Amino acid sequence: MTMERPNPQLNIPGKDRAVRAMFEEIAPSYDRLNHLLSLNIDKRWRRLVVRQLRDVIERPEALALDLCCGTADLTIELARHTRVIGCDFCHPMLVIGHQKVGNTANRAFLTEGDALHLPFAEGQFDAVTVAFGLRNLAHVEGGISEMRRVLKPGGRVAILEFSQPVLPILRPFFQFYFHQILPRIGGLISGSSEAYRYLPQSVRHFPDQRALAEMMRSVGFESVRYQNLSGGIAALHLGERPLT
Ligand SMILES: C[S@@+](CC[C@H](N)C(=O)[O-])C[C@H]1O[C@@H](n2cnc3c(N)ncnc32)[C@H](O)[C@@H]1O
Repeated sequence: MTMERPNPQLNIPGKDRAVRAMFEEIAPSYDRLNHLLSLNIDKRWRRLVVRQLRDVIERPEALALDLCCGTADLTIELARHTRVIGCDFCHPMLVIGHQKVGNTANRAFLTEGDALHLPFAEGQFDAVTVAFGLRNLAHVEGGISEMRRVLKPGGRVAILEFSQPVLPILRPFFQFYFHQILPRIGGLISGSSEAYRYLPQSVRHFPDQRALAEMMRSVGFESVRYQNLSGGIAALHLGERPLT
């Protein structure tokens, strides 16, 4: 049976069901494909997220939340520096993550939950991260609002997401790879070409670097800034919950 491909457009009600089904299907090959399709650059991007949060997460008793943690790669990077909870709504992704967090000396815990309705009280976390998850939410501003809600005043948010290449010379090569090559390799290895066709299409609909920064400000973050990664193929957005 072929799965229903999620609608790649932004803020589509009910998109969450199709997104969860898609990740249930590709969970067994997710890690392998991630590293293969990005030539391992994704690992470097996740390490950069952690570097940008070090001053906050290395405080004594700091606690971080990694949203849409999937198979827990970023959760595990964070656990080298802090206690961290990884949260995702796709059970098979978390099962794989559970096998991997065993080596974090009880600093990483995973829980099942929806990023749009987080099972946490307000103001609990020193840092909240999300890597390649925000784009998939049924309501992007709603997700950013939830991150703000669960952050302590003065806490920091880090959003790692695919973005728009800024180098004109890179753009046609990358678009060819992203739209033509990646879905074929992804489909071949995962058995789900729909998932790897959804990926570039959802990136196309996602706000670019400036628009995402503006969205974060409109939801109430301050000191919002971003850094282009690998020529803007991805971007890391940072912001802070105001103290008052
Ligand atoms: C592309 S994966 C990213 C996983 C991981 N953060 C990484 O860097 O590899 C996106 C993840 O977001 C999760 N996700 C999507 N929508 C969600 C939601 N509303 N609540 C919780 N998790 C969600 C999916 O289940 C999937 O595991």
